[in-house]
Amino acid sequence: MENPKQHIEDLRNLLHQHNYSYYVLSSPTITDFEFDKLLKELEALEKEYPEYADPNSPTQRVGSDINKQFVQVAHKYPMLSLSNTYSLEEVEEFYNRVKKDLNDDFEIVCELKFDGTSISLTYKDGKLQQAVTRGDGVVGDDVTANVRTIGSIPLTLQGHDYMDEFEIRGEILMPWKVFDKLNQERADQEEPLFANPRNAASGTLKLQDPKVVASRKLDSFLYYMLGENLPSDSHYENLKKAKQWGFKISDATRKAKSLEEIAEFIKYWDVERKNFPVATDGIVLKVDSLRQQRNLGYTSKFPRWAIAYKFQAERELTELLSVSFQVGRTGAVTPVANLKPVQLSGTTVKRASLYNADAIDALDLHIGDMVYVEKGGEIIPKITEVDIKSRKPNNEKVEFITICPECGATLKRDEGEAVYYCPNYKGCPPQIKGRIEHFITRKAMNISGGSETIEHLYNGKLISNIADLYTLKWQDVSHLERWGEKSAKNLIESIQSSVNIPYERVLYAIGIRYVGETVAKKLAVGFPSIEQLKQATIEELTQVDEIGDRIARSVVDFFADEENLELIEKLRGFGLQFELSQEIMSQRTNKLEGKTIVISGTFEKHSRDEYKTLIEQNGGKNSGSISSKTNYILAGDNMGPAKLEKANKLGVQIIKEDDFLKMIE
Ligand code: IVH
Repeated sequence: MENPKQHIEDLRNLLHQHNYSYYVLSSPTITDFEFDKLLKELEALEKEYPEYADPNSPTQRVGSDINKQFVQVAHKYPMLSLSNTYSLEEVEEFYNRVKKDLNDDFEIVCELKFDGTSISLTYKDGKLQQAVTRGDGVVGDDVTANVRTIGSIPLTLQGHDYMDEFEIRGEILMPWKVFDKLNQERADQEEPLFANPRNAASGTLKLQDPKVVASRKLDSFLYYMLGENLPSDSHYENLKKAKQWGFKISDATRKAKSLEEIAEFIKYWDVERKNFPVATDGIVLKVDSLRQQRNLGYTSKFPRWAIAYKFQAERELTELLSVSFQVGRTGAVTPVANLKPVQLSGTTVKRASLYNADAIDALDLHIGDMVYVEKGGEIIPKITEVDIKSRKPNNEKVEFITICPECGATLKRDEGEAVYYCPNYKGCPPQIKGRIEHFITRKAMNISGGSETIEHLYNGKLISNIADLYTLKWQDVSHLERWGEKSAKNLIESIQSSVNIPYERVLYAIGIRYVGETVAKKLAVGFPSIEQLKQATIEELTQVDEIGDRIARSVVDFFADEENLELIEKLRGFGLQFELSQEIMSQRTNKLEGKTIVISGTFEKHSRDEYKTLIEQNGGKNSGSISSKTNYILAGDNMGPAKLEKANKLGVQIIKEDDFLKMIE
């Protein structure tokens, strides 16, 4: 290559541009596949030419391996918070005070108040230099490595008119969709759920492994530029500039010239925020002119030039009538508060989630207490506070149960876990029904119906496990109460077509503890038939990417159980898929069995990832580094001299892509 440095730079610029189109503008101009190809090409080049390494390269977004405690950094400008209000009257007071103090015309910038975790970014010469959390406002944590993985944060800026050095502050957020998916996965793996996207975002930002951070798909909105020689005296204009440089700035931001316009903005977003992709908890009002901001100055805690109006958390006071305990599919016992019905933002609330024993203790709940219920971001309302003053002396403290309310088994709680569970997984009805319900869900076997369907079939004694579904006859089902011929036939049809659901989804559907959708896919690729999976040892299982001890143990336990093996045999008899599809299988060979291959350089005919897959599909093993165990090096262009030397020293055979393709032909 003639000028690798230039080539690397061009690729980086191109990828920055595509990142921006994708994450900030939400309108990608190339496919993910094309993007990955370019990224791989850059990765390979950076490996070959380590002298041109750059922490702001787009390749760094995937997260580097460094694992360290965070370094504490003092903020150049303290990170203040805003004075809060919940009332429009106080907004009016703020406005009138500003008017009086300035005694001049002024404009107010109205912004959304994003409910995430705040961050301060420093840029030097157009490159992201450092990202620091708020901390105590004076000193925060250096989370740069994690922030680099966030797609909407520019690593290098666009244009040329930015200052040599400046800070920009904003919020790191987890979009609702990502939050819901993450919690679903955590539920599948029986990990504690995040209470809201804010906790999820700040928890993620504090993770020690940037690779995991990258996988969590965080987002950002920036709202405050600081530094000397800012582009304009107008905050609004500065944000516009920031947008041109590639930052994600909210389109909701408006300038207001009167209290009426402010009130309109508040009224609009109080409703519209429910359709916004990230959580917001209010709006922020800022005096636009920086000169006027300086004139107004600060109190000991807050700027006098800004205020946050918080949306009313919808909350009501009602009586706690009783607490019931529900047993889920996995045996986990969830306490639920039964409340005196109360109206809360348009719906009648009768029940509220209590999460677990610790949450009950934290609230110090007593039956008969008057409690505040709130609808946060979550759909299920929760109890946020007890009105202790109104507690009657004989109100009894809520105690967590010790015996399963469904089957009488003694509940267990593992050390360090918050959740009690019923260990009787074979005989406890909600666990049995729950497993069947899980089996039929859309992402599993996609059989029509839901919990009610299973309840009917189970109570009607037509099914007691997942295999029984395949013995159902529409005539039997249609005799059940509230079932007709048509709905019974529909059900049977969808059961019949489920036999074509691919192996990886069957693996997910059979409900092995801790095996969620993603894990099931990994297992299916690592062990392409259930026979292989059955025989896998803990050691073999943990060799698969992302499979840890806990999951491996659970898989082994599952297949050690005779009843589970019988169930699988029955399902196999009904025609369910217990092997990777023919299409994928037919591409598998043993041509590379026992061979360890290292890939190096860039290729013409396939991408590096495709070569990785080809190695695995042909029974070989792909490895990242050359050792005495390496059989071949699949070398493309630009294989590094160090690698070449090592290969020669160890006598490892170097093959070109054509040789390789011939080997597996
Ligand atoms: S301005 C000196 N603008 O709310 C003013 N803050 O209580 C600096 N926040 O710590 C903050 N959206 O984490 C500002 N549009 C917005 C905001 C916003 C959310 C957060 C931020 C801040 C807290 C203030």
